[in-house]
Amino acid sequence: MAQRTKVTIPYLREKKAQGKPITMLTAYDFPIANIEEEIGIDMILCGDSLGMTVYGFSGTTPVTMELMIPHSAAVKRAAPSSFVIGDMPFMSYQVSNEMAVLNAGRFLQESGVDGVKLEGGEEMAERIRAISRAGISVMGHIGLTPQSVSALGGFKAQGKDVTGALKLINDARILEESGAFSLLLEAIPSEIGRIITERAGIPTIGIGAGPHTDGQVLVVHDALGFFKGHKAKFVKQYCNLNDIIRNALQEYRKDVENRDYPAEEHGYGIDPAVLEEIKCKLK
Ligand code: KIV
Repeated sequence: MAQRTKVTIPYLREKKAQGKPITMLTAYDFPIANIEEEIGIDMILCGDSLGMTVYGFSGTTPVTMELMIPHSAAVKRAAPSSFVIGDMPFMSYQVSNEMAVLNAGRFLQESGVDGVKLEGGEEMAERIRAISRAGISVMGHIGLTPQSVSALGGFKAQGKDVTGALKLINDARILEESGAFSLLLEAIPSEIGRIITERAGIPTIGIGAGPHTDGQVLVVHDALGFFKGHKAKFVKQYCNLNDIIRNALQEYRKDVENRDYPAEEHGYGIDPAVLEEIKCKLK
């Protein structure tokens, strides 16, 4: 397949200006990221959702930099043209600007990602400013922010009342002013997604934020029907990968139990004379 043109921030801004939807998916490993690269997905997020989808935790807070870096590096190797974002895990940026810049820099140096993402509104503006001043592209993430799910009272839509919605609109403005190159909007009313997108000079990417954002992202395990956990209202499942894999592996188990696998064609041959000599030597 021909090499794609590298996706850059000016390219993403141009898509917003022209009203062309930006495509984004998560990926955590080489094979999936490589498919996303080949089909022309604009942005790939190596999300801390891997804590749930890959590692079986009930949330994202156990995820560390040590987990994120090798997965992000594999994604980046698989997808040189897509804009790859490393998701800053819980406690890698909340404590101080210095820590945030060091960990964002570590992401770029050790995994080669094009930028990083962190969760939080106005309270994270300083971190966004510090990271972007260090020359690192940083995406904001507001609305439902899974790292603070217990403070938010669970995985539920945000910005549904006047105070909450006005806070989100204000957060979006402040994060843009602080240097975010893009904003991820998660689980908010579609009309609030529209208002934020219309007011933003930077691309907005929605997940459960309605059809009016500049782009859309889904957790790839949800889109493929691979993850068996809770399925949010906004997820569109494009196939049932869990069933496809289950059926294939059940077939394998039966084949082995029935001695149908391996068949003749799966084995290596040997010269009959060589075999005869081996047998003679074993007598
Ligand atoms: O970690 C993640 O996968 C996310 C999603 C909201 C896209 O942040």
